Amino acid sequence: MKDAAPQTIYLRDYAPPAFLIDDVQLTFKLAPSATRVLSRIHFRPNPDAKDSVFFLHGENLTLIRTAINGNTITPEVTDEGLTCTVPDGPFVFEAEVEIDPAANTSLDGLYMSNGMYCTQCEAEGFRKITYYPDRPDVMATFKVRIESELPVLLSNGNPVAQDDGWAEWSDPWPKPAYLFALVAGDLVNHPDSFTTMSGRDVALNIWVRPGDEGKCAFGMEALKKSMKWDEEVYGREYDLDLFNIVAVDDFNMGAMENKGLNIFNAAAVLASPETATDANFERIEAIIAHEYFHNWTGNRITCRDWFQLCLKEGLTVFRDQQFTGDMRGHAVKRIDDAIALRAHQFREDAGPLAHPVRPESFVEINNFYTMTVYEKGAEIIGMLRRLVGAGDYKKALDLYFARHDGDAATIEDWLAVFTDATGRDLTQFARWYSQAGTPKVTVRDEYSNGTYRLHLSQSTPPTPGQPHKEPLVIPIAVGLLDEGGTEVVKTTLLELTEAAETFTFDDLSGKPIASIQRDFSAPVILDYPQSNKDLAFLLAHDTDPFNKWDAGRRLAQDVLLRMVRDDAAPDAAYLDGLATVLRDDSYDPAFRACVLLLPSEEDTATALVDAGQTPDPMAIYHAHEALKLLLAQQLQDSLPRLYADMTVTGAYSPDAVATGKRSLGNAILSLMSKLDGGKQASAQYTDADNMTQQLAALAALLKIGKGQPELAAFETQWQNDRLVMDKWFGLQVSCAAPRLAATTAANLTAHPAFDLKNPNRFRAVFGALKSNTAGFHDPSGAGYDLLADWLIKLDPINPQTTARVSTSFDTWKRYDPDRQAKMRGALQRIAATPHLSRDTTEMVTRILG
Ligand code: PHE
Ligand code: ZN
Repeated sequence: MKDAAPQTIYLRDYAPPAFLIDDVQLTFKLAPSATRVLSRIHFRPNPDAKDSVFFLHGENLTLIRTAINGNTITPEVTDEGLTCTVPDGPFVFEAEVEIDPAANTSLDGLYMSNGMYCTQCEAEGFRKITYYPDRPDVMATFKVRIESELPVLLSNGNPVAQDDGWAEWSDPWPKPAYLFALVAGDLVNHPDSFTTMSGRDVALNIWVRPGDEGKCAFGMEALKKSMKWDEEVYGREYDLDLFNIVAVDDFNMGAMENKGLNIFNAAAVLASPETATDANFERIEAIIAHEYFHNWTGNRITCRDWFQLCLKEGLTVFRDQQFTGDMRGHAVKRIDDAIALRAHQFREDAGPLAHPVRPESFVEINNFYTMTVYEKGAEIIGMLRRLVGAGDYKKALDLYFARHDGDAATIEDWLAVFTDATGRDLTQFARWYSQAGTPKVTVRDEYSNGTYRLHLSQSTPPTPGQPHKEPLVIPIAVGLLDEGGTEVVKTTLLELTEAAETFTFDDLSGKPIASIQRDFSAPVILDYPQSNKDLAFLLAHDTDPFNKWDAGRRLAQDVLLRMVRDDAAPDAAYLDGLATVLRDDSYDPAFRACVLLLPSEEDTATALVDAGQTPDPMAIYHAHEALKLLLAQQLQDSLPRLYADMTVTGAYSPDAVATGKRSLGNAILSLMSKLDGGKQASAQYTDADNMTQQLAALAALLKIGKGQPELAAFETQWQNDRLVMDKWFGLQVSCAAPRLAATTAANLTAHPAFDLKNPNRFRAVFGALKSNTAGFHDPSGAGYDLLADWLIKLDPINPQTTARVSTSFDTWKRYDPDRQAKMRGALQRIAATPHLSRDTTEMVTRILG
């Protein structure tokens, strides 16, 4: 293979396809290293095309035969595809190619995982299966024949016929190639069914490897809840007779929404009380919902081109967030989402990888499945809904489905639907899609004679390629409280559209305390220097649960900053406020657990950077440890009672109430272990009948430098469970003392069960290394070197996962010259690796800036 200079693709260069497809017939003759793929495709010229060049994508294919209208031809073939001259008018193109799924470790295209054949075609994997216009705006119906001795042969749509050694499938809904899927293996199913709102019966299956049957029930319930929810909330009914989910061990992402045949990373679907944590259950429910919701937002209405990725992802994430909120409570869901957004998306938006929610160019589209496209994309939709209101949002969505069903659509189409349904001009709002960077909203206030004025101003920092920013439309939800804690102004939505604006509230009887950005109404950074007294007041009295929590968070961050900078003792306002909320039974345990959770060390590093300082990861680590110890001491008398109160009796259930109790109980356990030498944690470890309790106990022990016997017992107990072993790998690294983190990770890479070809295992170790902030940034540079070594090893095997994990380096410019030099060195070493993939080359180049 030669290393061609990577080509940049631009949104502005979009041109409609030269040819459209009516239908596709595919035959797969499966064999591990010599699979034959026969295609028969009905093409016709696109009347809207600007040119008539016939080009089909194709990569790593051995071409056996090509024919047009039955006549063998000899096309011109390059590394990227095939061209040939074609007749005027419609014609039938046929090809036979050979591919090698057993050698495909990229997990993109047709590949093998534990003896099972499996496909992943988004974004551009279909071109590794056969020659095809592999772009989302070419939609066609597919008929598929699979020939294999394996017992279970699946593809999209409905089954047509099958017998020993073959099966035929037909998908009546036109779809782009990225939604194609095929699975063949020795699988068992967990069956169920669902009756749709119009009374149609849909057969449901979750297909797994023998032995995993017992881990499907929860996913199946989640699927049925999702189907029901989408009918009730969005009026969307499922449109095939069958819905299949398949679990696969080797997968680059969480899951994939292939039409009628969703393929899941085993970690995103398999769960049992003994093997999965509460957090796993919640994530599985959300991902099942997400993939199911794609059937309408992604599949029935797809994207015109990959620049429009947020059209399907932002909307589908927003929908799965609404679903989880409805299932489990909106306040805690909003808090969880804000924590993740601030930690990961704000980080991306503030660094060298910042890009608009709708990017304008890319080298490798797989590098744009980002927090920005997904999560900020979802926030934009949340803002739209806030601005137009729930009723008009529904109207707009109904219009979207009615107008664009069957289309490959754009963000312009999406916004036009809102304008047409509500009359609202969204020209300025559209900047959210094109402007990168997290806006900062500065708030200053003044009060006199019954009038309260909020002066709001906005600015967005420069990002790569975007030195200058325009003002955005920012919905800021505000409520005002009086000194007694009574809400004198209920939640009001302010629309900030100018660089600076003043909003006035009259007829007040005294200076109010403002609660701003309620429910996290916009994905912005708030610069509002409220006193610790006011923050403690809001923690105690705010009626908005998000801001109540956020007030506590801001207090905690302030405490931590002072500890890092001045070695100052924690503010009593914080400690008292926290203790009060913690002991108050009127708040549910899940919420109290959120309040008890400190900002992460990475969050504190960011806060320091925002304050113009260079973060010292070790100093931050020590401050966090000291604060946790102080909290434990301060709360000492209440901890055993609280811990006991959080006991859940009866059979394990991953519902929101039980999850909340375990979440608070385990947060308390972690504090208790700082004082009792791990006594309670050891007891919990021994008594645990579920993974949530077992793992939390083990983590608490490891964090105080104990737990080695439990760790060994855990390995013995779970060595045959891949997903649990991922936890075993990860926990040791994330709980390691900073100076031991890199060594721990290095030792684990030598463990016989470490497998470079399995992304879950790789991420277990190296995701955990990144999350151990002080460990990754150990001044020796050992963390950087180890990660670089392994990224270099992984790149030829799996470029997508390599590129994704390389983002661990994206904060390198924040640090002191010594760390910067070490990180830059590691990045340059990766960049200089011969034959480095396009994926990783693009990422490290952008990170180096
Ligand atoms: N489209 C998938 C989702 O968001 C994500 C994905 C992208 C999976 C690319 C695999 C490859 O649900
Ligand atoms: Zn998605």
